[in-house]
Amino acid sequence: MRGKICVITGANRGLGKAAALELARQGATVLLVCRDRARGEAARSEIQEATKNATVGLLLGDLSSQQSVRDLAAAFLRRYNRLDVLINSAAVYKSKRIETADGLETMFATNHLGPFLFTNLLLDALKAAAPSRVINVTAPSTTKLNFDDLQGKRHFRAAHAFGASKACNLLFTYDLADRLAPAGVTVNAFFPGLVKSGLMREAAPPVRALLSAFASPPEKAARALLYLASSPEIERASGRFFKGTTQSKSSDYTRTPAIQQRLWEASAALAHLT
Ligand SMILES: NC(=O)c1ccc[n+]([C@@H]2O[C@H](COP(=O)([O-])OP(=O)(O)OC[C@H]3O[C@@H](n4cnc5c(N)ncnc54)[C@H](OP(=O)(O)O)[C@@H]3O)[C@@H](O)[C@H]2O)c1
Repeated sequence: MRGKICVITGANRGLGKAAALELARQGATVLLVCRDRARGEAARSEIQEATKNATVGLLLGDLSSQQSVRDLAAAFLRRYNRLDVLINSAAVYKSKRIETADGLETMFATNHLGPFLFTNLLLDALKAAAPSRVINVTAPSTTKLNFDDLQGKRHFRAAHAFGASKACNLLFTYDLADRLAPAGVTVNAFFPGLVKSGLMREAAPPVRALLSAFASPPEKAARALLYLASSPEIERASGRFFKGTTQSKSSDYTRTPAIQQRLWEASAALAHLT
């Protein structure tokens, strides 16, 4: 991965940090996207220290804020004109409905719309590095979206909103893969399995108990993510859903082009993307 430029969101802890460490070990230039300078700087120096890779950098950005995502993309593009690997790993689980600065539900905004906007703003850099890769970290969600109430204003259930945001990741992956096929940019979705992390700390106690009983440390999933980011074997694989390193199939719903298109149009409008 020497000479490759990789951006990874949610890189100050959990899977994102473990994957950033793996990429840095392989000699890549790794840019950690974090929303908090102190947490981001701590992760950056830990990874740099462990790998002796001097090209580990930090980009600050809050994925729940569209202005912040635009500033983040601009900060990247001021320094780099190509991007080999983009890993959208950051996510949040909220037990209550909380609105972002843009008036959107937080899980929708952070887990879907932020990565949607960020990825779109980096398309020219991804195309310039083709064959390049986008990897969206998600789960095999079977949740269906309520397009009449995407922000859960009329009816909010945390588990549904979280599941819907992960279904959005799948819908977005397949749609973007089709759009980018001619440009040589691959787009895949990745399910890491159950990973020990702080992600579900606001979930109900039985969910947390299940996770702590069956989840694995993030290192194993990070190695699978490294495979997706770097293996020549899957250089051309696009629009696929990987469970670890194994290709799998997500729900029929997430593979329906009309729903993908509907989400794309709704997202582009919400993110003011022309
Ligand atoms: N853990 C699992 O069992 C599991 C299973 C399936 C899929 N996944 C997926 O794996 C990915 C990583 O999850 P994880 O378990 O590693 O979670 P995690 O340990 O909670 O890490 C989440 C990361 O996202 C960042 N983040 C949250 N909100 C953000 C925002 N508004 N702007 C920028 N960054 C933000 C967090 O930063 P802060 O430290 O600042 O909060 C943190 O670095 C997620 O996409 C998740 O859905 C996880």
